[in-house]
Amino acid sequence: MDSATPAPAFETVTDVFPINGTDYIEFYVGNARQAAHYYQTTFGFEVIGYSGPETGVRDRASYLLRQNKVRFIVTAAMGPDGPIADHVRRHGDGIRDIALWVDDAREAYALAVARGARSAYEPRVLRDGSGEVVMAGIHTYGDTIHSLVERRGYRGAFRPDFQPMAGGPAVEPVGILHVDHCVGNVELGKMDEWVGFYERVMGFRNLISFDDEDISTEYSSLMSKVVANGNERIKFPINEPAEGRRKSQIDEYLDYYGGAGAQHLALATHDIVHTVRLLEARGLEFLTVPSSYYETLLNRVGPIEEDLRELKQLGILVDRDDEGYLLQIFTQPVQDRPTFFYEIIQRKGARSFGKGNFKALFEAIEREQARRGNL
Ligand code: FE2
Repeated sequence: MDSATPAPAFETVTDVFPINGTDYIEFYVGNARQAAHYYQTTFGFEVIGYSGPETGVRDRASYLLRQNKVRFIVTAAMGPDGPIADHVRRHGDGIRDIALWVDDAREAYALAVARGARSAYEPRVLRDGSGEVVMAGIHTYGDTIHSLVERRGYRGAFRPDFQPMAGGPAVEPVGILHVDHCVGNVELGKMDEWVGFYERVMGFRNLISFDDEDISTEYSSLMSKVVANGNERIKFPINEPAEGRRKSQIDEYLDYYGGAGAQHLALATHDIVHTVRLLEARGLEFLTVPSSYYETLLNRVGPIEEDLRELKQLGILVDRDDEGYLLQIFTQPVQDRPTFFYEIIQRKGARSFGKGNFKALFEAIEREQARRGNL
């Protein structure tokens, strides 16, 4: 299908908004201590920093977690008032900040605001004996922001406002390497607006588009466009609901999240079988596909290196494009509201997003929607 054909390779020399990668993902949650414990015991993240009353920060408790290149911050309010408590009341637990690592935060912020981004906070400098981190923030969809983080003047572990912290349960990491992509759900008719935002403000380009013909089941459909920055380290698929016979999974998200927000985060691994085996043994729940999916899989994707029986046992999906193949699996929502979830992905050459799995996947989501009484 033409709409899914990747655009030609981008000239990185023309990158008008250089981004080195994802700096961290910050979640606003109801209980940061328990959320940190969850990411330690389930995913094998290590807690490496803390910020809260004990370190002179009065209004919040934040735990910094790390696994290879992935940094999470889980933050909770210490009282009923203020932006963190408001965010959790309206959205439940969810992503507040998809922070981007830049060389010059002041310049990136000035550029973004001049091109129409709404300021979340002005440049601020955080200092300690290891140097300084400069940060500024801009708004994106819903109540989500992008912090722009400059750390070229900093030799410390993370940020001056976090105190190093070690300890907690020693749990084997599951092999998560880096953030592959982060997906946003936006309201009906808003997808092109946000694609335009990333193109105009940050020089992203529309990598792939999926229309409702590509992503539809008997009951519901959605539309999606993927935007990426110059070096393609940052990839943001943006979804909007499309008209269907019943309620789209995107509508369910928007209802429960109270508007637009981050739908899922895809975490990359080198060995998805190992990663998923560990996660499943620790109680993380995944979406399942019917066993018939595996009967025709090899006809569809051709030869693969993995053991098909293992993939079937774990429910791992496979898709192929012109450049190679990918393996992926999706979790159930990781909080009470049917909102945010994870994808685990292993790329073997493929740079696409698993279009061949959309139908099986969305049917699996709809079975869960029906169980919740929302289809
Ligand atoms: Fe994804």
